[in-house]
Amino acid sequence: MMTSPKHFLDLEDLSPSDLNEILKRSEEENLKKVLDGKTAALLFQKPSLRTRHSLEAAIVQLGGHPVYTRPEEVGIDERESAEDIACTLNGYHSLITARVFDHSILKRMSKVSSIPVINLLSDRSHPVQTLADLLTIKQEFGSLEGKNIAYFGDANNVSYSLAFGAIMSGANFTISHPKDFPFSSEQIENLQANNINFTYIEDPKEAALKADVLYTDAWYSMGQEEQASIRQTAFAPYQVNQELLDRAPEHAIFMHCLPAHRGQEATSEVLDGEQSRIFRQAQNRMHSIRGLISFLLDN
Ligand code: CP
Ligand code: NVA
Repeated sequence: MMTSPKHFLDLEDLSPSDLNEILKRSEEENLKKVLDGKTAALLFQKPSLRTRHSLEAAIVQLGGHPVYTRPEEVGIDERESAEDIACTLNGYHSLITARVFDHSILKRMSKVSSIPVINLLSDRSHPVQTLADLLTIKQEFGSLEGKNIAYFGDANNVSYSLAFGAIMSGANFTISHPKDFPFSSEQIENLQANNINFTYIEDPKEAALKADVLYTDAWYSMGQEEQASIRQTAFAPYQVNQELLDRAPEHAIFMHCLPAHRGQEATSEVLDGEQSRIFRQAQNRMHSIRGLISFLLDN
């Protein structure tokens, strides 16, 4: 009988001990080559630098070969259905990875797929980013337990997944954003249904006070470019600048998933400053996705 594969569409697909195991594998030097002589599909509906490069590198490190499909070639639900694409790719590959606009595409693919499906970012979440973020925080402080992770700016895919990952790891999660830009109702329902109890503090200056980690992301995500101007005005008080960083304890670190819009959500002084860990985070994208693939395929 065919057993259904493990997928990774969101942090809620993992138990806290699964999450620990992935972080542990992310730092192991001699992982079994679970993709030896095998291939993995990479479907992108949106641009990417870090996700594509780190994933391709990790696949090769695990003995495999990545097969990339450009946004204009993907044609999900245009050239053919998400289900037909998944079932076809099942015949060639050991893994389907996809960056999509609509999260429901990933769900539909995972329902019919006999190989793992990995979410490389959707409108709802960015869980592979969170794995790298948690690894970075763990390496910095030795543990995530009890750490205060404060996120400033847009309640988006990155902050949604980070809230999940932080709480699942025993950290505290605070988000500071303009009142009129909360998580979507679907995101809030999911957070509540999974007991992800985060704190909302409207005033960024207050939210920074006890932060061990100050995190931010773009004020408008891929696909929201037409809202750039209205969002730049609304989010301006939430910029992570030196003044905000100086309100946090001296040991605090600054994080950003990148790409950064310098001078908007964070200043260059902070992005390039001593407390910044942005390139460690970017490098950890490769280590953490290697740990994830090892966890999903090494049964
Ligand atoms: N952080 C991140 O996912 O970067 P890319 O969009 O460049 O992949
Ligand atoms: N929130 C951003 C993250 C980019 C890595 C976006 O979805 O565009």
